[in-house]
Amino acid sequence: MRVVSGIQPTGNLHLGNYLGAIRNWAAMQDEMDDQSECLFFLADLHAISQPHDPAALRAATLEMTAALVACGIDPDRSVLFNQAQVPQHAELQWLLSGTARMGWLNRMTQWKDKAGKNREGQSVALFTYPVLQAADVLLYQATHVPVGEDQKQHLELARDIAQKFNNDFGTEEAPIFTLPEPIIPAEAARIMSLRDGSAKMSKSDPSDMSRINLSDDADTMAQKVKKAKTDPEPLPSEEAGLAERPEARNLVGIYGAFAGQSSADVLRDFGGQGFGAFKPALAELLVTKLSPIRDRFVALKDDREALDAILARGAAKARERGAPTLTAAYKALGLVRH
Ligand code: TYM
Repeated sequence: MRVVSGIQPTGNLHLGNYLGAIRNWAAMQDEMDDQSECLFFLADLHAISQPHDPAALRAATLEMTAALVACGIDPDRSVLFNQAQVPQHAELQWLLSGTARMGWLNRMTQWKDKAGKNREGQSVALFTYPVLQAADVLLYQATHVPVGEDQKQHLELARDIAQKFNNDFGTEEAPIFTLPEPIIPAEAARIMSLRDGSAKMSKSDPSDMSRINLSDDADTMAQKVKKAKTDPEPLPSEEAGLAERPEARNLVGIYGAFAGQSSADVLRDFGGQGFGAFKPALAELLVTKLSPIRDRFVALKDDREALDAILARGAAKARERGAPTLTAAYKALGLVRH
């Protein structure tokens, strides 16, 4: 098994990232045997596809590293690095750009959402973003890619690119790339905003009240849960009763994800009760589960030397792991290198 996944270092790590992806990263890391390895990275190259402040990006890359370690990613057992220190990602992206089709990229919902009506005004990087993402995983022959629901389409594109490249330039006995499998959690794969049950929880939402950050203190978390948008009805006793109630469904899902219960289990306990009773229980559960992570994060986040050392060590290992596949891709394309 080769497990590979990334996160953009823009803003804070939030509950959506944690439940949709990072918690799974840590779990998969703990399952690795001698033959398997996990590589996790900060997608800082992806972060420049939209307007950004260089100083903020530098700070966020280190902070996000601290947050991942706080969530249980162990740099001694997993390869933890940032893309910018591994030039093979950008190199392989260019090699794959001859294979990726304009039509494929045009269909990406994230491109359509982020570009909106102003496609002409977007950076080329925002459009070719998914090709870099394909390079991220194909470079390491990833077999499994743990992500939240919103990244599924990008992973399907990575498979399409790998398949076409293998068909065009590989042989059946010696394909150049492995087709990666997305690993999406059965529950909590799409955590929604606390202010709007129809929008996903996101780093780019201008309202901080829309998300729980892993760096929030206990009072802030409790306050955000208390102010979360809900409706006046009590919770239903069965899941079907949540169908038209996206905010209630989201909060029940979050509770279940931390309690290790399905939404049906949560409703068995809380059905018939109002949010006046449910919200304090949810806040308490969140604080209990997230406080240890926050404490580890606070202890590490300003240790610049330790964080730099983690990333440098991870990048050296990543460059080594990526080298054979990159060489094979150059060779398959007929590019002369000595
Ligand atoms: P990013 O930085 O937006 O998010 C990191 C991970 O968190 C998941 N996630 C969520 N899951 C559930 N509910 C939410 N509200 C929520 N918000 C985010 C994402 O699905 C993701 O798994 N393009 C990627 C980063 C990337 C990558 C890669 C991922 C670059 N290269 C290669 C996998 C493999 C992104 O912007 O994720």
